[in-house]
Amino acid sequence: MALFDCTIEAQSGHARALSYETAHGTFRTPMFMPVGTSATVKGITVDQLHDLQSQVVLANTYHLSMRPGADLVEEAGGVHKFMNYDGPMLTDSGGFQVFSLADTLKLDADGLTFRSIYDGSYVRWTPESNMHIQEQIGADIAMQLDQCTPYPAERSFVANAVDLSANWARRCLAAHKRPDQTLFGIVQGGMELDLRMESIRRLRQIEDESLAAGGRRFGGFGIGGYSVGEDHETMFETLGQVARACPEDRPRYLMGVGNPTTLVRAVREGVDMFDCVLPTRTARMGTAFSSTGRMNMRNAKYTRDFTPLDHNCTCPTCQSYTRAYLRHLVKQNEMLGAILLSVHNLHFLLDLMRRAREAVLADAYEEFCQAWMNSPAAKDY
Ligand code: GUN
Ligand code: ZN
Repeated sequence: MALFDCTIEAQSGHARALSYETAHGTFRTPMFMPVGTSATVKGITVDQLHDLQSQVVLANTYHLSMRPGADLVEEAGGVHKFMNYDGPMLTDSGGFQVFSLADTLKLDADGLTFRSIYDGSYVRWTPESNMHIQEQIGADIAMQLDQCTPYPAERSFVANAVDLSANWARRCLAAHKRPDQTLFGIVQGGMELDLRMESIRRLRQIEDESLAAGGRRFGGFGIGGYSVGEDHETMFETLGQVARACPEDRPRYLMGVGNPTTLVRAVREGVDMFDCVLPTRTARMGTAFSSTGRMNMRNAKYTRDFTPLDHNCTCPTCQSYTRAYLRHLVKQNEMLGAILLSVHNLHFLLDLMRRAREAVLADAYEEFCQAWMNSPAAKDY
């Protein structure tokens, strides 16, 4: 197997089971990727990530390039060495963070200028400089610089973001050189199906032109610009057609989505990869995913509940701790509460996608999906 080879191991309806080769090992889909924004999955050690059988860890170019800085990460030997993690990693370009976090943002055809959330200093990014930063950080997968549009948004604004993102995709692909790292393009287009199709057509054309000129191809395709304020049904009106219009021989990655039911449904539409801060962020707020729906561990009903968090869960937290203890930790803002709930929530999504994969391999994805939708876990979707 060569680097970045993608094998379709099985298909069940539109749902797929892929394997993908990186310099830090093979990953298998469908797959959820824990978010480690600042080169740490908050509260979780790399040993715990291995125990959870997490495959790919996501880090963020925006945050790492500000603190501690891409030069320092490079000096450390790259992000893997820096954080002592030897599995596959992906960096988001930071395009999304710039648009959602930056208070002063100036966008032009050549790039963007914004003020750092850390110290207010002015930062200038072009597609080329962003590629350089992601090569310095050294994840296995880099993402193109793109413009993510909010919802609702004017059609002309979304069309402009599609055009800008495509131009940046072309420049990112031309600038990207690191041989042990691959680059994913990103589809934009909001909720407008024709703009989404235009975005995919542009990415395919950019890739064809790159290959014809002896350049590289995209390693996979991010599907951005969803989960930006629209409701679930609005997203699913276009998601399936968008996913399946992406090249079938490479991974399709729905960016920033982590609701368990959304994952189950998106896999059915042909999506392979997901990331989201939801499991770890909600854990820090005291919320647990469970086989009976979300649980707010601050709730007084757990005060004397000496049973496991989720009877149907095999995670380390559920093997050893009671709801009463977890409630106590959360109420006291003890850091162990956030850690134990993060372990559980990550296990929940990682295991959900492992079971989804088993269902695809058994060509029984439709049954898996129906069983999930009929289960109490799907109720607070
Ligand atoms: N994360 C969630 N959505 C997006 C998106 O549209 N673009 C990028 N780069 N990251 C994201
Ligand atoms: Zn658990």
